[in-house]
Amino acid sequence: MAHMESQHPATLPPEKRYHGVPSLTGNDPIFPADIMGHAPHLELEIGFGRGHFIRERAQQHPDVHILGIETKRKMVFEVAQKACAQGLSNLHLFFGDAREAVTRMQPAGCFQHIFIHFPDPWWKARHAKRMVVNPDMAAQIVRLLAPQGRCFVQTDVDFRAAHYRDVLLAQPQLRPLGDAGYVDENPFGARTAREKRAIEVDMPVYRLLFERT
Ligand SMILES: C[S@@+](CC[C@H](N)C(=O)[O-])C[C@H]1O[C@@H](n2cnc3c(N)ncnc32)[C@H](O)[C@@H]1O
Repeated sequence: MAHMESQHPATLPPEKRYHGVPSLTGNDPIFPADIMGHAPHLELEIGFGRGHFIRERAQQHPDVHILGIETKRKMVFEVAQKACAQGLSNLHLFFGDAREAVTRMQPAGCFQHIFIHFPDPWWKARHAKRMVVNPDMAAQIVRLLAPQGRCFVQTDVDFRAAHYRDVLLAQPQLRPLGDAGYVDENPFGARTAREKRAIEVDMPVYRLLFERT
């Protein structure tokens, strides 16, 4: 686990709260293998939120190292605290904007899996520019996945799922699995908080799985 400020954020003034969390902001290249001790199997989760998926997956697969990036410092702090309490040494959690950070990650082909779960809290058309799954991100997914590596995207918003699928299908080096990219179940077992909630209230979940050729 990367170093983190030990003082509890509740004791800090608002402007300093959670600012000690590890960050992937800046201009320098990012080498996930260096961060994760050159483990043979590296994964990336973008927008891990409350960290249910990333912690469960790390616990189930101690040999897998997972880099998580999240724009909310508070989430990074809280999930890192829980991961520490669970003794998870294969999780590497950072604050940052994944849309920007992925462009600095090196080398190409460094991840076996990339996960983007329920990335779409913004409904209004003017917020569309904030969307995480966009053509630039799809190009970075192609660059960062190892051959036969997989990208898994989930959402409970049907039109967003259709849009993400089109964005991913536009990359010739991403092969859609399942039914033209849609799969019925989460093949990774671990679930996010949003996914659990959707299942609980019987909302449909649209799941997309693509493989790097
Ligand atoms: C709707 S929540 C879903 C959280 C979690 N993945 C789940 O399924 O329960 C979307 C999450 O993505 C994060 N997020 C949004 N844009 C991001 C970006 N550009 N880089 C990293 N995280 C981002 C948000 O802060 C939020 O925690």
